[in-house]
Amino acid sequence: MSKTCPVALIGQKFMGRAHSNAYLKAAKFFDLPLTPVMHTIAGRDRAELEAFAARWGWARCTTRWRDLAEDADIRLVDVGTPNDVHAEPSIAMLEAGKHVACEKPLAGTLADARAMRDAAAKAKKCRTFVWYNYRRCPAVALAHQLVKEGRLGRIYHVRATYLQDWGGPETPLLWRFQKKHAGSGAHGDLNAHLVDMARFITGDEVVEVCGALSETFIRERSVPAAGPSGQIAAGTRGGGRKGKSDVDDCVLFLARFKKGAAASFEATRLATGNQNANSIELNGDRGSIRFQFEEMNLLWFFDATRDRREQGWTRIMCTASGHHPYAGNWWPDAHVLGYEHGFINMVADMMRVLGGLKPVVPLPDFADAYETQRVLEAALVAARERCAVKLSEIR
Ligand SMILES: NC(=O)c1ccc[n+]([C@@H]2O[C@H](COP(=O)([O-])OP(=O)(O)OC[C@H]3O[C@@H](n4cnc5c(N)ncnc54)[C@H](O)[C@@H]3O)[C@@H](O)[C@H]2O)c1
Repeated sequence: MSKTCPVALIGQKFMGRAHSNAYLKAAKFFDLPLTPVMHTIAGRDRAELEAFAARWGWARCTTRWRDLAEDADIRLVDVGTPNDVHAEPSIAMLEAGKHVACEKPLAGTLADARAMRDAAAKAKKCRTFVWYNYRRCPAVALAHQLVKEGRLGRIYHVRATYLQDWGGPETPLLWRFQKKHAGSGAHGDLNAHLVDMARFITGDEVVEVCGALSETFIRERSVPAAGPSGQIAAGTRGGGRKGKSDVDDCVLFLARFKKGAAASFEATRLATGNQNANSIELNGDRGSIRFQFEEMNLLWFFDATRDRREQGWTRIMCTASGHHPYAGNWWPDAHVLGYEHGFINMVADMMRVLGGLKPVVPLPDFADAYETQRVLEAALVAARERCAVKLSEIR
């Protein structure tokens, strides 16, 4: 019989729902060495928390996340709060000997991220995880495996874009538009995923940001009546009062990888007509791959080693049990997966790791996510100073 892993989660809105669903489902679909147990949900509003706990099956709720450190039963604390509320709870829980799973980006600032990395290194018995969930889409995991097997050969290009369009002038001043809460805008939100995916798929590291552009098109927004928390496209309308929107709406940058690949990254919340277009393409001397999240079950593969007569883009439906990562735990072939499955696959891998087994594909920890944060920081410096920035300058 599997042992249990009592979990506490801080934050009960967008990611609160995605993570709660994952803790509920993981042990139903995967045979795990540890079964997650939904011990406590923490947040700020007691009435909301009570309703949330009842709906999702959390045994307890609290408005004081600090108390989680005192509860000896809790083994894993999950941090699903805005970016400025990542470092403090993560570090406190590591100091209390808990494993920590934190949402991405690791933090809103490099200094916070560094403190988290250092706290994780100190807490030798604790494991850390960062919710770069797109790694666990089967198609992205397959891309990682194909590159590792050398099927793309030498990689020349990484081309990554994450395009959304919900950040127009009518969208109120949520925490995501305030530097003091978010650190950055589309950059830390969306480029963070792209940089993680690019590092994960290539297995390589960015060594230089060669140039960057950051733009804030919409500089003031209505202050929402209910406060700055809220879900994307929740339809929250702002009140009459206006506040300053002081994060980027888009950041574009060029980068060079250690093994020589030339890369471009673009993240924006103002790409009208694109809702969640998270895409990455890699071109190598033996082949290419292409992934687009809105068709997340597909990986496109071009095998340049095939006879020229037969070359062309292969559309791989990544749902074949025994062939594609995670597929065997889900439905029959081509009975497709969605957004939530990346989170469920991630909980399964976290439980495997905490139970002494290997994840299906590597999980990002705080040290790994800190490397992504350094790239993000280099891009911000490059945009601000209008110059190239070597990663060795960002510590
Ligand atoms: N992995 C992904 O794909 C993904 C997607 C969306 C958001 N995120 C990340 O998840 C985190 C949360 O984003 P979200 O969209 O869920 O935000 P949200 O606004 O929907 O929810 C934030 C939650 O944190 C709570 N909270 C805020 N400050 C708090 C505090 N001081 N103490 C206790 N609780 C507090 C709020 O009450 C709310 O429940 C962010 O870091 C964001 O970047 C990741």
